[in-house]
Amino acid sequence: MRSKFVAGNWKMNGSLAANAALLEALVSGSHGLPAGAMAVLAPFPYLAQCEARLSGSGIRWGAQDLSEHASGAFTGEVAGSMLREFGCSFVLVGHSERRAMHGESSELVGRKAVAAHAVGLTPVVCVGESLAEREAGLTESVVSSQIQVFLDVAGPAVLAAAVIAYEPVWAIGTGKTASPEQAQEVHALVRRVVAAVDAGRASTIQILYGGSVKGSNAASLFAMPDVDGGLVGGASLNGSEFLDICRAAVACGPT
Ligand code: PGA
Repeated sequence: MRSKFVAGNWKMNGSLAANAALLEALVSGSHGLPAGAMAVLAPFPYLAQCEARLSGSGIRWGAQDLSEHASGAFTGEVAGSMLREFGCSFVLVGHSERRAMHGESSELVGRKAVAAHAVGLTPVVCVGESLAEREAGLTESVVSSQIQVFLDVAGPAVLAAAVIAYEPVWAIGTGKTASPEQAQEVHALVRRVVAAVDAGRASTIQILYGGSVKGSNAASLFAMPDVDGGLVGGASLNGSEFLDICRAAVACGPT
């Protein structure tokens, strides 16, 4: 059985004051939502603030990236063990903005997931096709190959411990959302790829949809049988909208 899960990717947004108000709104609005249904993924400097406000609240938190290395001369990088010291449960790996702007390959994404898993973080592995790839009919091959390369590097045990986020690049921050049917089609494909390596895990792994999820479209996306929740960017910065999205997920019930 898979329970629904929604993570808010704050990206490079926030301030101590703005986060305090947002976290307050999330904590007070989350009563009645099951523990673990919701998480926020904050910039590194704000993880201590998340830990201080969210500890004991049922809302979990995490980071948006980590180093593939455990420690050493890697100026500017942050190790998974450091994220654990601030109570993180999750870390994004392979977000399309990192793949596009920082040249992250699926191999590197696999190594980062291994580093996350090694310290007890759940990697949220992002995959998704660009508009040109979708228009060329390559969605299936691009997404399967991202997962296959990830698997070759990280291995089935790390994949089994991960959450997968399908985020079509053309839908991120654009206001264009994949239709529920488009999302379902790719989510079902992702589940088949997982099933080929770990049939048992395929029925339990959470596959989130991301890309312009809003209060107004969340329920129809989350109603799809293979959509287990969302990875929400812009709308996660608005407490009441993010809570609406989380409530929509929970209302769909476990699959
Ligand atoms: P968006 O971002 O909801 O603003 O489209 C999603 C993401 O990048 O994770």
